[in-house]
Amino acid sequence: MLFIIAVAILISFNSIYSLDNGLGKTPQMGWNSWNHFGCSINETIIRATADAFIATGLAQAGYNYINVDDCWASSRDQTTNYIIPDPIGFPSGMASLADYVHSRGLSFGLYSDAGIKTCAGRPGSYGFEDIDAQIYAQWKVDYLKYDNCYAGPTNKTIKERYERMRDALNRTGRPIFYSACEWGEMLPAIWFRAIANSWRTTTDISDRWISMLLNIDINDLFANFAAPHGFNDPDMLEVGNGGMTSTEYRTHMSLWSIAKAPLLIGCDVRQLSQETLEILRNSEVIAVNQDSLGIQGQKIRIDLEHDTEIWAGPLTDGSKAVLAFNRAHIINQTISVLFPDLGWKSTSRVKVRDLWLHKDLGEFQGNYTAFNIESHGAQMLKMTLITL
Ligand code: GLA
Repeated sequence: MLFIIAVAILISFNSIYSLDNGLGKTPQMGWNSWNHFGCSINETIIRATADAFIATGLAQAGYNYINVDDCWASSRDQTTNYIIPDPIGFPSGMASLADYVHSRGLSFGLYSDAGIKTCAGRPGSYGFEDIDAQIYAQWKVDYLKYDNCYAGPTNKTIKERYERMRDALNRTGRPIFYSACEWGEMLPAIWFRAIANSWRTTTDISDRWISMLLNIDINDLFANFAAPHGFNDPDMLEVGNGGMTSTEYRTHMSLWSIAKAPLLIGCDVRQLSQETLEILRNSEVIAVNQDSLGIQGQKIRIDLEHDTEIWAGPLTDGSKAVLAFNRAHIINQTISVLFPDLGWKSTSRVKVRDLWLHKDLGEFQGNYTAFNIESHGAQMLKMTLITL
């Protein structure tokens, strides 16, 4: 009982004291270079990515940030301490790249680290927070992903190191989305709301079914701590990178959307298949992620015998987003959603819509049964109460 009260107090405390930069009312949407390109990144790719955002309609679908991850920086000027972009990959410099991205109506993000080096061994920001934040603002950077490698030599706590950059960003006067990436090690979901706009809850995702599931399962443990201006981040999307089937990628997108996870595309958007594009661009699935209530959907029922799950979460208009998920290798399973699990009566009449198909499935009383859900597949639904 005491534990429940303590958690309730923490949650309410948590939602009052959000990072006050006005950003991240809904989970961030955009693209990040790391999952597909790693260190092999340059300004030509970034410019072409911004172009592709427009040409493919991703921008129109709501994807906005174009974020350069690790390896854009090469060294620090010995006299001024200014960070120097890699002259081979980014010869035109970051200000001109940011201008280009802005000229496309998009926002521009960079990456740094709260230690002495980034994870790939480039200069970190520890001890240079103000000088780095000032130059980001000068370049018109809109987003900073802040990693946690090589922190040992600083001998400082995570709290101190992440707050130092938060304060430095605030001092610039430019609103810069602050994405904390310390891999969930110090349970940031519980206490990072006053520090960052989002926080990683897990280690790095890889382009495999098991990795994707592991990350969303861990992320789910912290569901109650997500709210507007501070969201849990189970890492970037792998949709389109080739390591999972289309069914699995659709499930990946469904889980990230219902869990209010950042939708940061991690594939090469210059060459998207039609299938990948349709997964990334589905307006009704994205609408669940971007719903202004900002409450993270959670796993609400598991059937261990069949290895199926129901995930659900409330939406602003009073309806529920629901996922009927066949996690098993078993093909074509039947999954029932019981309306009392959603907080409604067993006699309730409910309208059900398939969000992937943009199709009303009818009205149901007491429960809704999804048939033939393929292995690793999920039906993503919107359920609206008609009569209680
Ligand atoms: C860490 C982060 C990744 C990526 C790499 C870059 O592993 O968790 O998301 O930013 O560093 O080196």
